[in-house]
Amino acid sequence: MFGNKKTVDPSQDLKNQPVPAGQHLLEVEDLKMYFHTEEGVVRAVDGVSYTLDRGETLGVVGESGSGKSVTAMTMMGLIPMPPGKIEGGRVTYRGHDLLNMSEEEMQRVRGNDIAMIFQDPMTSLNPVYKIGKQVGEGLRLHRGYSKAEALKRATELLDLVGIPEPEKRVNEYPHQFSGGMRQRVMIAMALACDPDILIADEPTTALDVTIQAQILELMQEMQEKNGNAIIMITHDLGVVADMADKIMVMYAGRPVEFGTADEIFYESRHPYTWGLIRSIPEAAVDEKKPLTPIHGNPPALSNLPKGCVFAPRCPYATEKCHTERPDRFETGTGHYAACHYAGDDAFVVKNAPDTSRERAVSAAVLDLDDAKGGEA
Ligand SMILES: Nc1ncnc2c1ncn2[C@@H]1O[C@H](COP(=O)(O)OP(=O)(O)O)[C@@H](O)[C@H]1O
Ligand SMILES: [Mg+2]
Repeated sequence: MFGNKKTVDPSQDLKNQPVPAGQHLLEVEDLKMYFHTEEGVVRAVDGVSYTLDRGETLGVVGESGSGKSVTAMTMMGLIPMPPGKIEGGRVTYRGHDLLNMSEEEMQRVRGNDIAMIFQDPMTSLNPVYKIGKQVGEGLRLHRGYSKAEALKRATELLDLVGIPEPEKRVNEYPHQFSGGMRQRVMIAMALACDPDILIADEPTTALDVTIQAQILELMQEMQEKNGNAIIMITHDLGVVADMADKIMVMYAGRPVEFGTADEIFYESRHPYTWGLIRSIPEAAVDEKKPLTPIHGNPPALSNLPKGCVFAPRCPYATEKCHTERPDRFETGTGHYAACHYAGDDAFVVKNAPDTSRERAVSAAVLDLDDAKGGEA
């Protein structure tokens, strides 16, 4: 799973180097990554920009197929090239250019400076190795821990993420864990080396709502303790309502809106974001504008519509929307929306949902106080 064992010097880790003055922990600038396939060019990441600082949480939200996972994997150097190709943009982490690192340098970053929790724990856990070995593997590789030290720390980490009887559990195999417990193992694994940035790709999608709440709370507790940044990827805006500081809404490989969580919930200027908000159960407080899913499907990324990519599904689309790509309308606070009418206050006031961020939180995670139930 990891590369060859080498002598390690943690003081050389990028996470222990200062962020250059005037820069952010992570800067993604107009990132473009296309797949070149027989069916044509798939514009999977098409102009993604954001910045992230320590202690912050960025929510990346959009329907399935909007390029959320591929964006994260591009930054981590995990996209096979070909068929993938970086078409433009920049990603810097503590001032270091991630896109032009050697594979050897990237291996030091992955799991150590930037750790990722993948969507499906069963594909990321090796069925033939004991849990303790897998959780301790990063410590052996990046910190030079002995087998015994790594196992001891793995046991502590399982305890930390709320797995009962960790001394016994480190000696068990993945199939002996429930879905929720496997997800906790993934978090323990990702946290092992105290990453600077934790990327969680739909970490709770397969879990029931109670366990989902526990897992999200756990990640927030860890963040409060360690000060790391989190990138939380989800198709459900409700999931990030509670924890995100900033939200990037993606559609068809592009960020269509970006802002603070409050800007996204209370001052959204993009009809796609409105659709996502209206799709959160109980989030729309206005009875006259009830829960409504977004009709239709996202476009094929190899055959994008000529105008606004959302126009074919947008209830407000005009002739202009079908023929011209909208520029980003910027409010001046860093909040932007890529819609021809985002700057039209009357349009926004008339059509935006009356939302409550608090309601979205409760719809997503129900009652955290009730979410302490047991599981195998
Ligand atoms: N190896 C690949 N070759 C071609 N297209 C791909 C490849 N991997 C992913 N894609 C396409 O990239 C798009 C974005 O996928 P993804 O990032 O997984 O979406 P999300 O995580 O938002 O659900 C999808 O249209 C998907 O089909
Ligand atoms: Mg995904």
